[in-house]
Amino acid sequence: MQSVWQELLKHHGEIADRPILSLFDGGRAADFSVQADGMLFDYSKTNIDAETRRLLVQLAETAGVAAKREAMFAGDKINETEGRAVLHTALRNMAGSLVVDGRDVLPDVRATHARMQAFARDVRSGVFKGQGGAITDVVNIGIGGSDLGPAMACIALSPYADGPRTHFVSNVDGAHVADVLRGLNPETTLVIVASKTFTTIETMTNADTAKAWMAKVVKDPAAQFAAVSTAGDKTAAYGIDPARVFGFEDWVGGRYSMWGPIGLSLMLAIGSEGFDQFLAGGAAMDAHFRSAPFDQNLPVLLALVGVWHNQVCDYATRAVLPYDQRLARLPAYLQQLEMESNGKGVAMDGSDLSCHSGPVVWGEPGTNGQHAFYQLIHQGTRVIPCEFLVARNGHEAELKHQHTLLVSNCLAQAEALMRGRSLAEATAIMAKKGLTGAELDRQARHRVFKGNRPSTVLAYDKLTPFVLGQIIALYEHRVFVEGVILGINSYDQWGVELGKELALALQPVLEGKSDGAGKDGSTLALVKFLQG
Ligand code: F6P
Repeated sequence: MQSVWQELLKHHGEIADRPILSLFDGGRAADFSVQADGMLFDYSKTNIDAETRRLLVQLAETAGVAAKREAMFAGDKINETEGRAVLHTALRNMAGSLVVDGRDVLPDVRATHARMQAFARDVRSGVFKGQGGAITDVVNIGIGGSDLGPAMACIALSPYADGPRTHFVSNVDGAHVADVLRGLNPETTLVIVASKTFTTIETMTNADTAKAWMAKVVKDPAAQFAAVSTAGDKTAAYGIDPARVFGFEDWVGGRYSMWGPIGLSLMLAIGSEGFDQFLAGGAAMDAHFRSAPFDQNLPVLLALVGVWHNQVCDYATRAVLPYDQRLARLPAYLQQLEMESNGKGVAMDGSDLSCHSGPVVWGEPGTNGQHAFYQLIHQGTRVIPCEFLVARNGHEAELKHQHTLLVSNCLAQAEALMRGRSLAEATAIMAKKGLTGAELDRQARHRVFKGNRPSTVLAYDKLTPFVLGQIIALYEHRVFVEGVILGINSYDQWGVELGKELALALQPVLEGKSDGAGKDGSTLALVKFLQG
């Protein structure tokens, strides 16, 4: 594998400066794009040519992506540092059997799914009631993987929402829970406490606050609470009726969990048929991922483009730019999915990584980003690969002209990044405006776009539940492939632990119950200032 890395770096050195535009020979757009189940991934506006792709595919092959992919789907314990299988895919493909530790795990998955469906039906139809009648509002209290997925999806699929309104509380900052609860009627609100471990301090603190808020008006607040967790003992200790507890197993990682009970708020919003469509989209992407050759495989190619830009070209960040307002929270969702999964400096075997870990992921929907940070993407000194997402159709048929404008902006940005504007072109434009001499030269230089900046486009028909399922599974598998190539464990998250431990130790210092012995001077000075 080391030799393929070396070959890739050498190859990059040879082609790094060539214009991407010069690669277009008539057939490139078709050769460097791939379609699956109505979705198109176009990576032709990158500096990848046939040789680059050959080497990248070889990298994936020598890393053992195919064997590890099958090991994941088969339930092998590929999360080696925690001794766990990685089987979120089983939540969207529940048919048949799947044996983990000598037990078929799918009957439980199916049973929980059926219980979720029944509960969603009862809540949505008004059979399940709060003290004041049918449930009008659902508050999901969770954080990280117990929040970002359903929160993102409830916005993404709002055209399909015909159930109670959904709200999300995550931050331990009391402002969050206070702002969400203000204006809600406790008598018709259902609270879902979503926490895989049921110990996360943010979630448990917010759950207590919501319970106290409800208890002011509702005689039996626990009756309007549901829980989603792997820890049935803890949900029971919290007083939540097991009839409203939806469990899952430790082989579902938090940031991969929205397909199962963590998606309950989404199911309540769009109904179980819509939710099943979301699962079907994920399952379709799984089938494609398992069967398509690597050079025709969406998740593999998305990962290889990522590795090319991040580890080979040394571009430290990537921007995710949905030209789809309802994917506004996709970048935040992907930040956890990608950065918590692949932000690691140690390989599976405990050795230091010999290349960079996964990139910084960030972004905002277009066109808003165009009026904020695209300046830097176009003319800043660092190259930022851009990943555009765009639909052929919007949901607002009466606003088709706006959708056309949206799509043209998306494609124009990708074109501008690649094409740029030369000094000669900028000079000609400014000369036409009457500038001459040194002032012409100076003004023209400010209007130069170096261009040759790579981007990809993921295009689809419309943001339906099925398509959202495809998109999320696509990115999950991209993370998997990148993780295998980097040789890391994408399924643990030890890097979040230290901060949690120190926060617990600092709480008594801030409360004046401990003197903070052993703390550094900066931390103590800040404590003093914040204590007032
Ligand atoms: O802080 C990291 C983390 O463990 C995430 O991986 C997880 O999604 C989040 O916290 C929430 O955890 P839980 O669902 O157990 O409350």
